[in-house]
Amino acid sequence: MKRKRYAILGDIHSNQEALTVVIEDAQKSGVDTYVCVGDIVGYNANPAECLARIQELQCAVVRGNHDHYCSRDECLEDFHPLAANVIDWTRRQLSRDQVAFLRNLKLSLRVEGFTIVHSTLDMPEKWGYVFDALEAGAHFNYQTTSLCFHGHTHVPTIFEKVGRVTRNDTKKLRLALGRKYFVNVGSVGQPRDGNPRASYVIYDVEQKEIEFRRLDYDFKLTQEKIRKVGLPERLARRLEIGK
Ligand SMILES: [Fe+2]
Repeated sequence: MKRKRYAILGDIHSNQEALTVVIEDAQKSGVDTYVCVGDIVGYNANPAECLARIQELQCAVVRGNHDHYCSRDECLEDFHPLAANVIDWTRRQLSRDQVAFLRNLKLSLRVEGFTIVHSTLDMPEKWGYVFDALEAGAHFNYQTTSLCFHGHTHVPTIFEKVGRVTRNDTKKLRLALGRKYFVNVGSVGQPRDGNPRASYVIYDVEQKEIEFRRLDYDFKLTQEKIRKVGLPERLARRLEIGK
C-alpha cells in the first residue's frame, strides 16, 4: 500500500515561482495530499495564479489574515501602510469566485488525525503570533489532537509539549507518543528567518515523521514582477534576504 505523505504549506503570499518549486519538490518526494495553513495571497504579484493552483490541488485550506482582509471590505487603518497598500491591490486582482472562496474559508480545520490553523487555536480570529514557548502555551490549551500545523510568523519551528513547552528547531523529527506538537511550517513565498529559500513541511503518517524542506527558487523573477506592477520596493528586496 502507498504511504500517506502530506505536504503542508502556507504563507504562499502570491509568490508563483516559490509555489511552483515547492509543488515540484513535493511531487518528486512522493506526496499524495496537500494541506494549506493560509495566507495564499498578499505581498507578491500573482494572487490569482497562486489561488488557482491551490484550488487545483484540492487541499484542505484555512483562512490566513491576508486571505481574510483581501476578501472583505473591512477598513485597513490598523494595518501597516505597506501591507494595506498590497491588500488593496490584491483585492482588485481576484475574481468574484476567488474572493468568495477566500471569504468562506474556516479559521481552523481537522484533517484526519491532525489540526490546521493559520495563527493559533486560542482566538484564531485575533491572528496572534507565536514566536516562543510562552505564547505556544496558551495555544496548547486548545489543541486536542497530538499534532497541529500553523504558519503566520513565516519562521519554521516546532513547539513540543510534554509537561512544559519547548521550542525545537530540528529539520527532521520522529513524533513520540504522549506528546503534543505545534509545527510552524514556515513560508513558501516570503520567509522571514534570515533564509530566503522557500519553506514547507512533509508529514509522513506511517513513519510518524515531520521533515522541513527548504528550496531555492527564482526570486529575481518574483522581484521583477513586484516592480512591474508597482508594489512597494521593500517587498521585492526582502525576498533576497529572507526577512
Ligand atoms: Fe503571512
